[in-house]
Amino acid sequence: MKTLYEELVSYSDQNILPCHMPGHKRKSFGFLPEDFVALDVTEVEGTDNLHDPQGILKAAMERAAGLCHARETYFLVNGSTVGILAAVSAAVPEGGTLLCARASHKSVYHAIYLRGLKAEYLYGRPCEAADLTEPPEPEELAEALERCPQAKAVLITSPTYEGRIAKVRELAQLAHAHGLPLIVDEAHGAHLGWSKSFPESACEAGADLVIQSTHKTLPAPTQTALLHRNSDRVDAEKLRRFLRIYETSSPSYPLMAGIDNALHVMETEGARLLEDLKERYLSLLGDLQRECRTLRFVPFAEGRQDPGKLVISCAGSGVTGRELARILRREYGIETEMSMPTLVLAMLTVADDAEDFQRLKKAILAVDGKLSENKEKDTDAGPLATCAPAPEAVCTIREAWDAQMQESPLAEASGKISGSFLYLYPPGTPILVPGERVGEAQIRTVERCLAAGYEVHGLGGSAKDPLVSVLRA
Ligand SMILES: Cc1ncc(COP(=O)(O)O)c(C=O)c1O
Repeated sequence: MKTLYEELVSYSDQNILPCHMPGHKRKSFGFLPEDFVALDVTEVEGTDNLHDPQGILKAAMERAAGLCHARETYFLVNGSTVGILAAVSAAVPEGGTLLCARASHKSVYHAIYLRGLKAEYLYGRPCEAADLTEPPEPEELAEALERCPQAKAVLITSPTYEGRIAKVRELAQLAHAHGLPLIVDEAHGAHLGWSKSFPESACEAGADLVIQSTHKTLPAPTQTALLHRNSDRVDAEKLRRFLRIYETSSPSYPLMAGIDNALHVMETEGARLLEDLKERYLSLLGDLQRECRTLRFVPFAEGRQDPGKLVISCAGSGVTGRELARILRREYGIETEMSMPTLVLAMLTVADDAEDFQRLKKAILAVDGKLSENKEKDTDAGPLATCAPAPEAVCTIREAWDAQMQESPLAEASGKISGSFLYLYPPGTPILVPGERVGEAQIRTVERCLAAGYEVHGLGGSAKDPLVSVLRA
């Protein structure tokens, strides 16, 4: 059976005159890459239709399901975002309750808004080694399921942005024992499930709906992702309905071929590539832990940290995460994935070779050497308590976001009801969501983020005089 890429190449070789979209008519106009436009066809004979797959796309998605240990798989071209919107919408009826990780991506909150849901939260707990949040433990879920018998689905993120991995198997069993589906935002874990030396994927662990961004950790183009369905706890037809609603009606064939190709690479070489990745990561981590005097690294505990994420803690080092990221970029030409006041995250994938690892190691050791000589300035912002309990929710996210609002100086907002999301992005964990009563703790967290030079999304005004949207009294 041909891959989607091969099918597109053979279609393009037939010299058919395209009297249809897209408007470039497979011509480059001197700037569109030739190879890209050659494959950028639309739904014509032989190329199938993503929203009603019967041919080559159906076969490609069935192949993907087999490779990813899923019952059914959908290619996504609007990222994990569209998969999460569809999954939550299909799993929880309008107005129902979703039990979800507080540290969820904004697409989860947007699904809650779109469907008028109520949110109950799982917080996880702080990780001892760095300023980041562990995913919720089974004990926390068990307690929450008792507290929220009205919940219609459970949603967690694993791996987290920083690579912390949840006990998905136990969480799935607990959710199922209460008759609920478990949705796993595995946007950062498309590389799981391909090698026994990596933690199992959420599909293998029994999650009902799993969303993976192929573009984040596999060699696939930006915007590509997968949605897997593994049980009948969520209605398949509803899921497809919401995908049709949220996803573009003109899905890009080069993107879909990019998913197919990435899965083909993983099928043929994935196990070896992942072995290499893990070995290089462990060697890098060992060297850094031994040789660095100031910077610290989240240790690799079997199964709980993704070897694709190197968490560099700079707490107490004299520089903030943002400054460290800037040094790595400006002085060593290394662009990291994200920085927070006390840490920097470097992403490593199957596409990184031994030389890339060496370059990163040399740069980190060189920076560490300079930091340990010059430590008198302490800019440690302290942990940001990203998993702080949510303040009282006075109304739902939808009620608040759709209400009449006014701006209030942040310092005077205590006791008012938030009209928008406030979050540090990345990682995107909300400090406040619409409908929550602003408290002193949230005001202080925002002020500390601003003082450390971070942007808090959702604020108006300036960093010096921030304004927050609140519901009109
Ligand atoms: C945890 C998490 N979930 C979902 C998403 C959305 O993924 P995408 O960018 O593929 O839409 C992101 C993106 O950063 C994310 O970090």
